[in-house]
Amino acid sequence: MKQFLSALTLITLIVIASCAKKTAPATSAAEPPKAKATSFTAEVSPLLQAKCTPCHFPSKGGNKANFETYATASKFGAAMLERVQKNPGERGFMPMRNPKLSDTEIATLKKWVEGGMTEN
Ligand code: HEC
Repeated sequence: MKQFLSALTLITLIVIASCAKKTAPATSAAEPPKAKATSFTAEVSPLLQAKCTPCHFPSKGGNKANFETYATASKFGAAMLERVQKNPGERGFMPMRNPKLSDTEIATLKKWVEGGMTEN
């Protein structure tokens, strides 16, 4: 009986483990659908705040092109995209004196600019 129970436990664990594997792709399905516009407020602004600070944030003492608000940042969308696609060492590379943005971050910026720079 004991052996039967531990065999049962093992089988149960295997079933649970294989179910867990199968549900994994479902998490990527939870990502925003491709058709959805990239939002400045939800996606771009947090990225800029994390990576372009303090230089582009007057409230933090920065005095470069202002990325603080949608109104000011959206004037520089195309220029931002161009700069972050350069490589460190290239003239005009951004973020200055920082590592290159990840492919995902660049893709977010690209989608935002190419999708017409949606605010929300
Ligand atoms: C360490 C400071 C610093 C950081 C961090 C930084 N920048 Fe800059 N940025 C500058 C300086 C200085 C200039 C002006 C010189 C130039 O144009 O290269 C500038 C200029 C720019 C311009 C041109 C603005 C214009 O007037 O046309 C863009 C676009 C830009 N940065 C994008 C970014 C983006 C996007 C990030 C974050 C991913 C970033 N920068 C992070 C210092 C910084």
